[in-house]
This record gives sequence, structure tokens and C-alpha cells, in this order.
Amino acid sequence: MKALQSLNKYLYKYRGRLFLGLIITIGARVFAVFTPQLIRKSTNAIEDYVNGDIARVDIVKDKLLMNIGLIVGAALASAIFTFLMRQTFIVVSRYIEYDLKNEVYTQYQNLSLDFYKRNRTGDLMNRISEDVSKVRMYVGPALMYGVQTLTLFVVVIYFMVKAAPTLTLYTLIPFPILSFAIYKLSVAINKRSAEIQRFLSHLNTYTQESFSGIAVIKSYGILNRFNTNFEQLSNESKEKNVNLAKVEAIFFPLMVLLIGFSNLFVIYFGGMQYIEGKIENVGLIVEFLLYVNMLTWPVASVGWITSMIQRAEASQERINEFLSEEPRIKNHAPDTSESILGEIEFKNVSFTYEDTNIVALKDVSFKVNKGETLAIMGKTGSGKSTILELIGRLYDVNQGEILIDGKPIENLNLNALREQLGYVPQDAFLFSSSIRDNIKFGKADATEEDIINAAKNAAVHDNIIEFNKGYDTVLGERGITLSGGQKQRVSIARAIIKDPQIVLFDDCLSAVDTETEEEIFNKLNKISSNKTSVVVSHRASSAKNANHIIILEEGRILEEGTHSELLEKGGYYKDLYNKQLSEKES
Ligand SMILES: Nc1ncnc2c1ncn2[C@@H]1O[C@H](COP(=O)(O)OP(=O)(O)OP(=O)(O)O)[C@@H](O)[C@H]1O
Ligand SMILES: [Mg+2]
Repeated sequence: MKALQSLNKYLYKYRGRLFLGLIITIGARVFAVFTPQLIRKSTNAIEDYVNGDIARVDIVKDKLLMNIGLIVGAALASAIFTFLMRQTFIVVSRYIEYDLKNEVYTQYQNLSLDFYKRNRTGDLMNRISEDVSKVRMYVGPALMYGVQTLTLFVVVIYFMVKAAPTLTLYTLIPFPILSFAIYKLSVAINKRSAEIQRFLSHLNTYTQESFSGIAVIKSYGILNRFNTNFEQLSNESKEKNVNLAKVEAIFFPLMVLLIGFSNLFVIYFGGMQYIEGKIENVGLIVEFLLYVNMLTWPVASVGWITSMIQRAEASQERINEFLSEEPRIKNHAPDTSESILGEIEFKNVSFTYEDTNIVALKDVSFKVNKGETLAIMGKTGSGKSTILELIGRLYDVNQGEILIDGKPIENLNLNALREQLGYVPQDAFLFSSSIRDNIKFGKADATEEDIINAAKNAAVHDNIIEFNKGYDTVLGERGITLSGGQKQRVSIARAIIKDPQIVLFDDCLSAVDTETEEEIFNKLNKISSNKTSVVVSHRASSAKNANHIIILEEGRILEEGTHSELLEKGGYYKDLYNKQLSEKES
């Protein structure tokens, strides 16, 4: 039960309501226990009349009627209290579910990119939905029925001992066996439910990926293979669930069996004691029978409660695993109003991706002054995107240092840094909402004019207004799909609407023809003359106007200089430039 301790803070938060729930539960059980007592009194009255201790039948009748009235009253009171009990416990469990989901979501948002590389979306989704709802069962129903069972036990056994201590002992003989069985079964249930939760994450990931990749799956004609795989996984999941159900199925009958023995003990030993005169009235045996049967459901529910707690435990452990993750990228600096000017310097930077051990950058040094443009070129996999990710501090460097405005990047406030970055990633991701919202994403308080200006500067405005719904066109799963080049330009608009000090373009014009590319660069030059830009490209046309060009090869700088310097030098850049020039002319 160690994992569940992390929920104590929430139980403490709602302690007032929970305490009220406890009082109400005790009230409900006390009223429920009146019924067996009233029935004993009624039986005793009948016995007294038969034995001649009560002379007139109407006295018995009156007694019975009064008892019936009281029984109805007690039942009503118990029902009202039970209703209120649900209102407190279940409501609290919904509050805690809400709090926990928020806690997990905030943590997900805080964690660094490497976390998302290591864990898959299906798993993340599963923990925030399935696992949280399993945990809710613990703070809700399990807690409620637990309290209810416990109070019922205490109250019933109190009254039993008070009425007939020896008979109580006989009645409770099966209970130690019961506890042992419950313990054994719950261990088995715990193991199986943990396995199921783990497997469910796996299944969810598979399903989610097959939806995301549906276009690839269909175009490769491998629907059948996916269906077969899914069927296999489902089967495995089904078997695991059936295994769990088998163990759980033993619970209830076992409880009923053991409680059945209690009934037999009451009748046999109670009857004997009555005959021997150790018990005064038959009514007591009737009362005990009712008590034992009142205990049936709670005892049976102990198994159910245990299995709920076991599952919650397994789930909370999975949630805690993520909650205890530390974001790799830590924000050391306090929030400051100091703004970033945009000078970027790499000093002998080397970087290795931890999970793959791929050395992406080796001893890279360069400096971009405020307002200048740096172009980065090089073969695929040479480390270009890595440089941009390091400037955005999506990762921390292993060796060397990155200076922004002359200060080590780690010493800058992370939010302040990222606020001043307009990053256009290589694979433009757009949200499934309207084009307007996608552009506005970069600046929450953007006016219509800002949005149109940004779209114009990204040379995508003309495309947008051609759509029936213009800027209201919905993208993604439930809307239209933009062409590769349109997507890239919308994502450029999203970056420049922020009016950032530093723009990072990661090959984001690869799907755009050279003329549009030139148009965009001309516009950008106008609006961002005093901004720093780092442009990654495979095309010399994107790079030629930059103040400085570096050519990477396998993480090292192979060539660097201005356009004319590099042409003069002759090498990778010159070859590429000439080749692309002749392609354009032909
Ligand atoms: N998140 C990551 N985890 C592990 N390795 C990575 C990661 N991203 C990139 N790499 C590896 O680092 C190296 C450099 O990758 P990078 O993305 O910087 O190349 P690139 O120059 O941008 O290539 P391209 O022109 O194809 O975009 C590659 O070998 C790549 O496999
Ligand atoms: Mg790249």
C-alpha cells in the first residue's frame, strides 16, 4: 500500500467532508442494527404470549404494530443516511480524480522531450485516464464500503457480545479462515491486475499508432496484418482479464459458504444453549441470524474492496512512476523582465543523444551577432536540427557551452528564452483547429490584423483566403489537410506572429518552390532586420544571403564563411550551389 500513500495529501485536503462521511456512515449502520433488535423483541413477545406470560392477545398485537412502525422508521433513517454517505464519499472521489488528473497533466507538460521519446502516447493516455479512474475507485467506493463494513462490524459485534458473548464466539469461528482466504486471493488479484494495466497500455499504444498511421497502413495494403496483430493483442488481453475474473469469481461463493457456516453454528449452538437454559428467549437466536446475514454482504465486499484497492495500488504505482520523473531541463533562473537581445554563440559544443548514444555534434563553435542570419547546411543526419533544438534548450549540451547574449543558456530563465524564440520545426505540426487558431497559437492576444499580416509575411494568406471558410478552415482529423508547403508556411506564420528576437527555421521551406521561398525571405528580411535568424536548409538559395554559412558533416563543421567566401574556396557548398543553379536553369 506504499504507492497509495501519495494520495494522503488529497484525503487530508478533503478531510472535513470525509469526516462528515464517517459520522453519517456510523449513523446509517446504527439505525440498520435496530431492526434485528426489534424483531427479537417481537419474537419474544409472541413467545411470552404462548408461554402465558402475557395474558391478552391485543397487548401482543400492539407491541408488534409498534415494533413494525419503529422498524420502518429505522429503515428510513438508515436509507437517508446511506444516501448522504454516497453524497460525501463519492463526491470527494470525483474531486480527487480531478485533482490527480491535473497533477499528472501538469507533470506531463513539464517533462522534457526525452521523456516523450522514452514513453509512448498510448501509455501516457492510459495512465492519465484508466489508471486515474482505478485510483478513484479506491478513494471513492473502496473507502466508502470499507468504512461501512468496518462500522457495521464494530456495531454488530458490539450488540452481539452485549446480548450473548458465548454465542458470538461460535458465530465468529469461520471469520479467521475468511480473512486468510481474502488475503491469499487479494495477492493473486494484485499480481494479475498490475499485469492487465501494463498490457492495456501496450494495447492502447498499438491502437493509437494504427489510427495515426492509417494512411500508411492503407496505402501499403496491410490492413489484414494490422487486424491480425490487433486480434492477437486483444486475445491476450482477454485471457489476462479472464484469469483475473477467475480469481475474483472465487471470492463471493467463498464468502457465502463461510457465512452459511455461521448461520448453522447460530442455529445449532444457539438452540443447544436455549434448551440448556443459558439463553432466555428464542428471539435472541432470530436476532443473531439476522446479524449474521447483515454481515454477509459486507464480508463478501471485503474481497471486492481489497481487489479495488489492489488495482488502485497497481495503478497509482504507475502514476507515481511518472510523477516522480524529474524534468531534465531545469529552470535555474527566476522570472525576470530582462529581455533577450539575440546574440548566439556556440563554444566547442558536443552533444550526444542519451538514448541512442549517437554523437550528433562534435566540437561545434560559431557566433551569430544580434540581427544577423546564420545558415546551416549539410547532409541529412549531420546535426542541423540538433543545433536548433539546443538553442531552444530542448536538451542540455554535454560539453562546451552555449551563450545567449554572452550568458550561459542555463542561466537564462527558460520561459523568457522560449518566449523570444520563433521556432519552426522540421515537421510542421498543426493542431486540429482552425487556421486562425493555429496562427494565433504563437500569440494569444493577436488581433485579426496581426494574424493576416503574419500569414502575408509567410506568403500563405492568398492560399488561405481561397478556402471556402478562409481563416476559419478547420485542419487535421476533422477538417481539411493542407499541402506540405501550406503547412510549412502556416507554421512559419505561427512563429513570426510572436515577433520574436530569434527565429529558428528548420528546413521549413523544403516543400515550397524556390520563387515562393525567395518571396518569403524578402518579406522576412524586411520585418526582421534587427532579429537574429538561424536557417537550416538543403538549398543554397536559402543560404546565400546569410551573413554566415556553416556546412556540417557528421556533427563537425566542414566549411564556413559567407556565400562568396565559400564559392571561392570551392568544396561542398560550391558544388551544391552550382548543381542547384543548373537545375533551376534547365
Ligand atoms: N531525439 C533523438 N534521439 C536520438 N538520436 C537523435 C535524435 N534526434 C536526432 N538524432 C540523431 O542525431 C543525428 C543528427 O540528427 P539531426 O536531426 O540533427 O540531423 P539533421 O542534420 O537535422 O538531418 P536532416 O537534414 O535529415 O533533418 C542523427 O544521426 C539522428 O539519428
Ligand atoms: Mg533535421
